[in-house]
Amino acid sequence: MAKNIISDSEEGQTPLDDVSGLLVDVKSRRELNDLEFKNNSSAARKYLLKRLTGKSAPFTYKWLQQVHKDMFGKVWRWAGTARDTDLNIGVPKEKIGSEIHKLFYDLGQWEMRKDPPVEIAARIHHRLALIHPFPNGNGRWARMVANIYLHRHELPIVKWPEDQKIFRPKYLKALKAADTGDHGPFLKLHEEYWQPS
Ligand SMILES: Nc1ncnc2c1ncn2[C@@H]1O[C@H](COP(=O)(O)OP(=O)(O)OP(=O)(O)O)[C@@H](O)[C@H]1O
Ligand SMILES: [Mg+2]
Repeated sequence: MAKNIISDSEEGQTPLDDVSGLLVDVKSRRELNDLEFKNNSSAARKYLLKRLTGKSAPFTYKWLQQVHKDMFGKVWRWAGTARDTDLNIGVPKEKIGSEIHKLFYDLGQWEMRKDPPVEIAARIHHRLALIHPFPNGNGRWARMVANIYLHRHELPIVKWPEDQKIFRPKYLKALKAADTGDHGPFLKLHEEYWQPS
């Protein structure tokens, strides 16, 4: 299939050299992006348009996998299934489950000490991206889950800019700072695109 077309990867992206899980026949990277975008949009409608409850957004590991499946399940066979290989980013595959559970524990602590929801959303976003549970789509999924968290708390969502040239380097730089424990720039980025204008 379109192996050579879609394997070109940009900085901060999981290399996409395994197209064996594709459920659709795509001829270009652009076509793939469009199909993923459509799939992602239907998931956004499912989670971000109506009021959420502990039942529709329970923040369990199984539910996090379901969100990924809702976002990518029409395009990739492995959507919603944790990767079984190690990547150049993310925790070793055996640690995915335990790291997600560690995140849930930390989430409980952040909520107990009443950290601001946007700060919690930024931390969820960073940790999910850092764990990187899936073969691909981790960034879009982590941004969606963080927004679901905000929406679940009846707050506006973060509207990330489409622009790749200016925004992307800032975003990756802020993620890398968060990797070293400096969460300031990543939180600032959330606040910048979150506050309703
Ligand atoms: N140093 C880093 N620390 C934490 N997360 C990172 C880092 N570098 C990249 N990421 C995350 O990984 C994502 C890329 O992974 P992946 O390709 O699986 O996701 P994606 O949804 O396909 O990407 P994109 O966000 O470009 O649509 C980035 O969007 C970012 O969220
Ligand atoms: Mg990717």
